[in-house]
Amino acid sequence: MLIFYLIGIAILLWLLHVYMTGGVCKIKKDLTGKVVFITGANTGIGKEAALQLGNMNATIIIACRDTIKGQQVLDQLNKITKAYLIQLDLSCFNSIKQCVEDFKKLKIPQIDILINNAGVMAPQTYKTTKQSYELQFGTNHLGHFLLTELLIPYLKAAEQSRVVNVSSLAHKQSNLDFQDINYAQYANSKLWSIKYSLLAYGNSKLCNILHAMEISKRHGIKACSLHPGAVRTELLREIVKNPLLNAFLILITPFKLLLFKSSLQGAQTTLQCALEDYDKLVDGGYYSDCKLKQPNIANKQLAEKLWEFSDEKLKPYLQK
Ligand SMILES: NC(=O)c1ccc[n+]([C@@H]2O[C@H](COP(=O)([O-])OP(=O)(O)OC[C@H]3O[C@@H](n4cnc5c(N)ncnc54)[C@H](OP(=O)(O)O)[C@@H]3O)[C@@H](O)[C@H]2O)c1
Repeated sequence: MLIFYLIGIAILLWLLHVYMTGGVCKIKKDLTGKVVFITGANTGIGKEAALQLGNMNATIIIACRDTIKGQQVLDQLNKITKAYLIQLDLSCFNSIKQCVEDFKKLKIPQIDILINNAGVMAPQTYKTTKQSYELQFGTNHLGHFLLTELLIPYLKAAEQSRVVNVSSLAHKQSNLDFQDINYAQYANSKLWSIKYSLLAYGNSKLCNILHAMEISKRHGIKACSLHPGAVRTELLREIVKNPLLNAFLILITPFKLLLFKSSLQGAQTTLQCALEDYDKLVDGGYYSDCKLKQPNIANKQLAEKLWEFSDEKLKPYLQK
């Protein structure tokens, strides 16, 4: 009898594993002549997406903060395709401007696919970007907003180009408040807690969705956003600095192996959005497990408001 229970449990666990790690991009294309620009590709989901698209012969530009790790990925890419590495710190507007200047020097005329992938999650202390925005809002949203705006001429130069924003299911945990977008009221170290850190992460990921919803209206370029799933990457690097949370994460390691995707599995929805036929890609759509889904909260008015807010804040950096 016991043996049947054990087999039953094993089948259930296997089905759960298949469900949680599901969503496979079945599209394969020859991307010869196409240019992919991807942020945060020195590790995790971004690295796997870059390698997969490189395998399809696209020219790949990886824009990375840590260029030592970036060089290792570039070496791998150079074995399969033409690739370039550019330094980029999304938490500093001047670095973003410099990154675009460095891209111009490559004399590549167009970008076919821009993948805004880089992200920071849940710092243990209240942190800000160089220009004093809350770290996650400033990096994950404003940084990518500025980068995208500066790259628009290159996206317009390509036929049927697209922007892919890597968001998260965490957008459901958000409370976007334009009066205190920086969570300044909790900036004091005694008030800042994992709760607000995660809320600020959720906000930044909602912004990724709203940003994608507005791009084509403003520039006539298709854009979409996605949730990659729960993926075993370095994203929790800030969370593990908290001894209690770290202990918890160590404790659930077997469950992570069972329920979390590998980086390659986590890159599948990014690949789906990057490779989907242009006419089939839903403009402003939010994808998960390689399928179109309905995001929470996101609506046109909020997308418009966020665009105007971001555009206003970035005005000095958007001028030539
Ligand atoms: N893993 C998940 O379960 C999960 C779930 C939902 C959404 N996501 C999203 O997926 C995306 C990729 O994350 P991942 O899971 O692959 O995590 P990861 O392994 O930690 O990769 C994050 C990447 O972002 C880069 N990055 C962080 N701050 C940056 C900055 N200021 N400037 C430039 N690059 C910066 C990192 O570069 P450095 O190495 O230089 O720090 C790294 O390359 C993120 O947008 C994340 O929010 C992940």
